[in-house]
Amino acid sequence: MFIGCGISVNITIVKEYDKFKDLIISRKRKKYKFANFDDYKNCFSHRREDDGVETHQRVFDYLSHGEDQEKPVVLEIAAGNAQFSLQMARKYPDTHFIAIDIKSDRLYTSAKAALEEGVENIAFLRTHLNELGNVFKSNSIETIWLTFPDPYPKKRSAKHRLTHVSFLRQYRNILNETSELKFKTDNLDLFLWSLEQLVNDRWHFLELSFDLHDSNLKDDYKITTYYEQRYVARGEKIKYVTAKPVEA
Ligand SMILES: C[S@@+](CC[C@H](N)C(=O)[O-])C[C@H]1O[C@@H](n2cnc3c(N)ncnc32)[C@H](O)[C@@H]1O
Repeated sequence: MFIGCGISVNITIVKEYDKFKDLIISRKRKKYKFANFDDYKNCFSHRREDDGVETHQRVFDYLSHGEDQEKPVVLEIAAGNAQFSLQMARKYPDTHFIAIDIKSDRLYTSAKAALEEGVENIAFLRTHLNELGNVFKSNSIETIWLTFPDPYPKKRSAKHRLTHVSFLRQYRNILNETSELKFKTDNLDLFLWSLEQLVNDRWHFLELSFDLHDSNLKDDYKITTYYEQRYVARGEKIKYVTAKPVEA
């Protein structure tokens, strides 16, 4: 009786351990990535309580590598693992790319690859997008790529959508009159809602497609992000818009 009980307890523990093993390993992996992110010379973190000017300085000191020459700056926001930005950085060595996400363990993958390959025109910034205006100067950014942001389908969560007017105002502030916001998503509801937000906030549409990969838009636009790769493989259509801020 006693032995039987012990065995059953052991079996339960083993089963429970198996269930949580993957979780423990993935948490360990995340911690490892967090730690490495902070050590990598191409990675930067910014929190609300930090000085935005100082963060800006650190990022651009890295990107300029001691040269004076000003280069166009392209941001990818909500970049996730930033494979899109890394590929663009390889292709355009005379442009500075900054991949931004709130989660450093996601950015880590491309940060590591960039260092290993010696791609030095890309930096990785962990920050909340509410902080964009504190880190980047007005009129300083040539292009913002917003790639596959979370849709936040519930109406009460609309303020978290990265095309909400509160975010559009931040983007407008750091872009100049020749700059562009480029946005792609798989989510039709989010896309239509975003087009409405853009119109209401006085942005002009320069390019628009409801099926990017079957359009004649630039090949660069079809370089896939991590999420996009999965959506395209499932046969989903990618929606795309280039929008330009118009003066009040
Ligand atoms: C669905 S994933 C897309 C990632 C990537 N763009 C792709 O297509 O593979 C959305 C990303 O947005 C980031 N994100 C969501 N809200 C954010 C915010 N307010 N500030 C910074 N990043 C945010 C998340 O951490 C997540 O990595």
